[in-house]
Amino acid sequence: MEFITKDQSFLDQKPLASRRSFFLLHLITIILLLLVSPSSGQAWDGVVITQADYQGLQAVKQEFIDPRGVLRSWNGSGFTACSGGWAGIKCAQGQVIVIQLPWKSLGGRISEKIGQLQALRKLSLHDNNLGGSIPLSLGLIPNLRGLQLFNNRLTGSIPASLGASRFLQTLDLSNNLLSESIPPSLADSTKLLRLNLSFNSLSGQVPVSLTRSSSLQFLSLDHNNLSGPVLDTWGSSSTNNTSPSLLRVLSLDHNTLSGPFPFSICNLLDLQDFSFSHNRISGTLPSELSKLTKLRTMDISSNSVSGQIPETLGDISSLTRLDLSQNKLTGEIPVSITDLKSLTFFNVSYNNLSGPVPTLLSQKFNSTSFVGNLELCGYSVSTPCPTLNPPPPSPEKSSGRNLSTKDIILIASGALLIVMFILVFVLLCCLLRKKPDKSKAKGAEAGPGVAATKTEKGGEAETGGETGGKLVHFDGPMAFTADDLLCATAEIMGKSTYGTVYKATLEDGSQVAVKRLREKITKGQKEFENEINVLGRIRHPNLLALRAYYLGPKGEKLVVFDYMSRGNLATFLHARGPDVHINWPTRMSLIKGMARGLFYLHTHANVIHGNLTSSNVLLDENNNAKISDYGLSRLMITAAGSSVIATASALGYRAPELSKLKKANTKTDVYSLGVIILELLTGKSPSEALNGVDLPQWVATAVKEESTNEVFDVELLNDVNTMGDELLNTLKLALHCVDPTPSTRPEAQQVMTQLGEIRPEEMAEATTSEPLIDVPEASASTSR
Ligand SMILES: *[C@@H]1O[C@H](CO)[C@@H](O)[C@H](O)[C@H]1NC(C)=O
Ligand SMILES: *[C@@H]1O[C@H](CO)[C@@H](O)[C@H](O)[C@H]1NC(C)=O
Ligand SMILES: *[C@@H]1O[C@H](CO)[C@@H](O)[C@H](O)[C@H]1NC(C)=O
Ligand SMILES: *[C@@H]1O[C@H](CO)[C@@H](O)[C@H](O)[C@H]1NC(C)=O
Ligand SMILES: *[C@@H]1O[C@H](CO)[C@@H](O)[C@H](O)[C@H]1NC(C)=O
Ligand SMILES: *[C@@H]1O[C@H](CO)[C@@H](O)[C@H](O)[C@H]1NC(C)=O
Ligand SMILES: *[C@@H]1O[C@H](CO)[C@@H](O)[C@H](O)[C@H]1NC(C)=O
Repeated sequence: MEFITKDQSFLDQKPLASRRSFFLLHLITIILLLLVSPSSGQAWDGVVITQADYQGLQAVKQEFIDPRGVLRSWNGSGFTACSGGWAGIKCAQGQVIVIQLPWKSLGGRISEKIGQLQALRKLSLHDNNLGGSIPLSLGLIPNLRGLQLFNNRLTGSIPASLGASRFLQTLDLSNNLLSESIPPSLADSTKLLRLNLSFNSLSGQVPVSLTRSSSLQFLSLDHNNLSGPVLDTWGSSSTNNTSPSLLRVLSLDHNTLSGPFPFSICNLLDLQDFSFSHNRISGTLPSELSKLTKLRTMDISSNSVSGQIPETLGDISSLTRLDLSQNKLTGEIPVSITDLKSLTFFNVSYNNLSGPVPTLLSQKFNSTSFVGNLELCGYSVSTPCPTLNPPPPSPEKSSGRNLSTKDIILIASGALLIVMFILVFVLLCCLLRKKPDKSKAKGAEAGPGVAATKTEKGGEAETGGETGGKLVHFDGPMAFTADDLLCATAEIMGKSTYGTVYKATLEDGSQVAVKRLREKITKGQKEFENEINVLGRIRHPNLLALRAYYLGPKGEKLVVFDYMSRGNLATFLHARGPDVHINWPTRMSLIKGMARGLFYLHTHANVIHGNLTSSNVLLDENNNAKISDYGLSRLMITAAGSSVIATASALGYRAPELSKLKKANTKTDVYSLGVIILELLTGKSPSEALNGVDLPQWVATAVKEESTNEVFDVELLNDVNTMGDELLNTLKLALHCVDPTPSTRPEAQQVMTQLGEIRPEEMAEATTSEPLIDVPEASASTSR
């Protein structure tokens, strides 16, 4: 699927020169506003709104129902209509060129009088509650370029007159209640680039004119009631074939289309995503499909396509998803499919395929991709392929798995090596423990485990008063001894300014995270203990609990935390698989968790975090946010604190005033929180270069330029459609948190309260029972 921001502004596509003249005009308006006193009405000629447009807007307002009073500003004599005073209106030379009022809860209908706005270029009223039909008069507006009315309740048919808009580029009427057939005249708009009529009740055939369009790049007609054979005229320009089709996305899913598979699809050389699942298409797949060298996804599931899977599909190296399930395909799965290195989704289940599944495919995809083919074999233990020739004599094969003797020896010796390694390791540790004085002190930090580095004698239990170390537990379920800790097998998870973090597995199999603090920069023992005794008492569901600390006889300091197997937010967000989508409810619950944790830290624990980044926010099994690393700066000498600040700055989480201040406070923490919220909204990492500006600046600029929709992570587009207000309000809140002026920023408590208003708790709870992670094929069909 190609995700494109729906609200793209056609203005951006205007030649630079005319954009500049718009700008100049605007400037002149402002200058006039400053120079001319309001009484001298004459001087406004050409700048104040024209009479026709003024009346047009008044008529439009009259037929809207405006429960939120968004249009209250459309009042008075229209003096300010064209100078930014009227919500959602932009003008040029006193004529309205843009009406942009998405997500405003507008009801009522769109007045036919809108046709009076003869200079209108863009009408964007998506995500409202508008009913009634689409005004015929829109087709009489000569310069209309963008019409975005998706996510409303418009009824009736699509006016054929729209085809008369010669410059129309984007027509998105998706998710309304439109019925009757698609007017063939739509293809008369020779600039039409994006046509989205999905999720309506349109019937009749797909007009032949659309299949021949030489301008369309995106065509979505899915989820309608279209019927009849799919014409075989794709990409054949009606007059000549000098202008090849530019179609990139073609989606016809969930209709009742019939007839044979259209071979002419193979003419659409730019095609990237192509789907017509859930129809009644028959016929066979042409081998010429391999001409589609840019094809990434192909979904023809739930049809009646028969014949063999063409071997040439293996030549489409760009293919990432191939769904042929629930058809009537026969023959074997071509081995060539294994050449598709980028393939991440493959489904041929419920066909009539036979023979063995190519080994590479059965390794990459599990049996749910192959089931329902009675004569297909070799894709799971329960579907062994019948052996035609007697197997070559080889006693080791009796297990039924294809392991040669050599393999088995290799595996066995590998396993042995590992076992021996662990044994040696544990033995070493326990031996050394018996001989305290032979400890090797430091220098072994990067060793495979805590144990290796901590060979000194571990004092017993709580305050092991002997010459050895000292282990102190804070409340919690863990009951390990110093020996347990020091003998644990450990692997390095990461390093930071403060030290190295290990995942340690204790004897009983439980796991803890152990941070070995860098001795050079930690405070002296007495001060250290004072501070850590404060941190160890902090308990909150959104703060990672500090469970224990260990002071070694040589001054080593280990700090023990709960181990979070799901890792940190940065990895969760930026380093996940291509098929893992994180929906808005999940992101919002993470944001709320962080806000609650920070609030508790600031007000109840009286601790400043000082280094809040998405890598310091961990996730538990239920995807609850757990802030970690809080207050660690208190355990360190001051010089260490500033080096952490420097790191945070490099990562883009540092409040600007810290360059002078050097000392973190609640407002600098809120700034960091704001950056993480922006990270979750945009999907962008603050360390990414964004044309030389940081993430907050980038977002602020985009919002100013009114391309707010382009700010959001493409993955959230479905959520933008359904929960747009929530996303927008969270964006506003985040921008408030990253305000350059510290006093303007809210406190964590206000952030928490406002988040509760944006998405009330019952709602949030209702959605936690949903799967936290959307798989794309599911989200596409359930998003409405
Ligand atoms: C018109 O609306 C503006 C903005 O909402 C408001 O400040 C002004 O008082 C209104 N004027 C009239 C005449 O209602
Ligand atoms: C068409 O609209 C639907 C529903 O609004 C959306 O899911 C889909 O991504 C859109 N397709 C294109 C190509 O814009
Ligand atoms: C879809 O179209 C068929 C005729 O082609 C009609 O019988 C059926 O009622 C329509 N369904 C809907 C949901 O409009
Ligand atoms: C071919 O079609 C293009 C675009 O439709 C048009 O500009 C061109 O004049 C046509 N050429 C001929 C020879 O008809
Ligand atoms: C499946 O294919 C076999 C031949 O491979 C054929 O004999 C059988 O009738 C087919 N079954 C169906 C349900 O099409
Ligand atoms: C098979 O793979 C699919 C997609 O990768 C996954 O959703 C499903 O849980 C897997 N099923 C089993 C039984 O492993
Ligand atoms: C393949 O398609 C079948 C039928 O639609 C479905 O039950 C199965 O879960 C799918 N397998 C994968 C891996 O998506």
